[in-house]
Amino acid sequence: MKLPISKRLLLCAEMIPPCQTVADVGTDHGYLGIHLLQAGRCARVIASDLREKPLASARANAAAFAVQERMSFVLSDGLHNFNPGDFDVLVLAGMGGDLIARILADAPWLDGGDSLLILQPQSAANDLRRALAERGWWIERERLVRDGQFLYAVMAVRPEGGGPLTPGEQYVSPALRRAGDPLYAAYLARVRRALELTVRGISRSADPADQARAAYYREALAEVASLNAVGDTDVGEAPRA
Ligand SMILES: C[S@@+](CC[C@H](N)C(=O)[O-])C[C@H]1O[C@@H](n2cnc3c(N)ncnc32)[C@H](O)[C@@H]1O
Repeated sequence: MKLPISKRLLLCAEMIPPCQTVADVGTDHGYLGIHLLQAGRCARVIASDLREKPLASARANAAAFAVQERMSFVLSDGLHNFNPGDFDVLVLAGMGGDLIARILADAPWLDGGDSLLILQPQSAANDLRRALAERGWWIERERLVRDGQFLYAVMAVRPEGGGPLTPGEQYVSPALRRAGDPLYAAYLARVRRALELTVRGISRSADPADQARAAYYREALAEVASLNAVGDTDVGEAPRA
């Protein structure tokens, strides 16, 4: 039986180095953890979810693929039922960027630790990048995957060593600009189109709240529009302490 794992989750898995324990928070079906164990990428997986039903499905799938002895199952809102040292790698995938940011904000003990975080937002990636930067965290690597009609960014994040990001960098991170990703030009074009629509919509709006945000979006658009579609492939970037 073949594991029905998506290209999106396969990219998350690819970005995880060999390690001891991976926590997959918001696991749902548990496919990511099952794949990691099958591939020998880690020794143990903690599969966690907010709800019983997805957790039961992860448990059943782990048994069907005979990896249940190397997986544990934790009912938890985000990281509430976790402790420092529980994992080497934390994955938050397939959730909105705002929810991922909220889960991370609720776990101040992550700051300065040596965990690697693999983050894959379904939406609001710019808000997530802004939250990471405000926390002083560093997007070490970022890659793209096309799944169906969607393009997703997957970030490998260190909970230290980062600095502020400009509005444009919140939409297209320095890590992505230097990654040489084959989907970079397509991603850039999509981000630019979305920002153009947002700026156009805000220009027509009479809502004072929109006017307050207009400068942010205009600045992001100007920076994104100035980017070279092949990226900064020859530019390295050290962590910004
Ligand atoms: C769309 S699924 C994503 C499943 C898998 N991670 C993936 O990328 O395919 C989102 C999962 O996150 C879970 N979830 C939502 N809020 C959560 C929270 N606060 N803490 C833990 N899990 C949560 C949901 O119950 C659901 O199973």
